[in-house]
Amino acid sequence: MPQQKGWDFTHMINVAIDGPSGAGKSSISREAARRLGFVYVDTGAMYRAAALYVMQHRIDPDDAEKVGSILPMLDIELKYEDGEQKVYLCGENVSRVIRTREVTRCAPIVSAIPKVRQCLSDMQQEIARKNNIIMDGRDIGTVVLPHAEVKIFLTASPEVRAQRRYKELIEKGMEADYEIVLADIKERDYFDTHKPISPLRPAKDSIMIDTSEIDFEQSVQLVVDTIRNKLDARA
Ligand code: DC
Repeated sequence: MPQQKGWDFTHMINVAIDGPSGAGKSSISREAARRLGFVYVDTGAMYRAAALYVMQHRIDPDDAEKVGSILPMLDIELKYEDGEQKVYLCGENVSRVIRTREVTRCAPIVSAIPKVRQCLSDMQQEIARKNNIIMDGRDIGTVVLPHAEVKIFLTASPEVRAQRRYKELIEKGMEADYEIVLADIKERDYFDTHKPISPLRPAKDSIMIDTSEIDFEQSVQLVVDTIRNKLDARA
């Protein structure tokens, strides 16, 4: 992994980026990681893969005990092909199917199960030990990587996030209703922030970045500058 000049850490550099859904975390984190030469880890994709695994086994996602019983066989691998993160579930590339509506619906239920969180958190810590990473999710700075060198909480107002999502759907030629998209985002926010385990909240030492008023390029630049400044100060 390319080591940036001046950042002479004896261990791998870990950057945690948390925030609500639709704040652009994944696309901003991916591009920031590319510019810094870090590996990007999308933990939401791992929860989605776990949800798909539960669905493939026709297990009720609310049945925490049954879900827990199949976790020892859960084999999720993140591979990097042409600079893109691909998600493999038991050897099969599931990068596309984990984005379907069914999986999106099942993921929050499965991700609320403590054993699932423990299992995926262990996998995420293992990746972080071996690579300079930017890892995005909901509980990275608070639970998974509490000692990350840089913690960022990336957010935007629900209205701006809904507007962006709505535009994205329309551009893909899909039917969409702004009010429904907004209600969906607010519902997901409520769920994420009120989960009994690992609720979404900024880590005490995280840097808040609000992208409501800035575009993608400005957001990426701000994230990259924030990481550089923080690492320069620690080097
Ligand atoms: O960011 P996303 O929509 O791809 O996340 C998919 C699901 O996983 C979503 O329900 C939130 C959950 N998640 C989580 O509980 N913890 C994480 N670190 C990342 C995602």
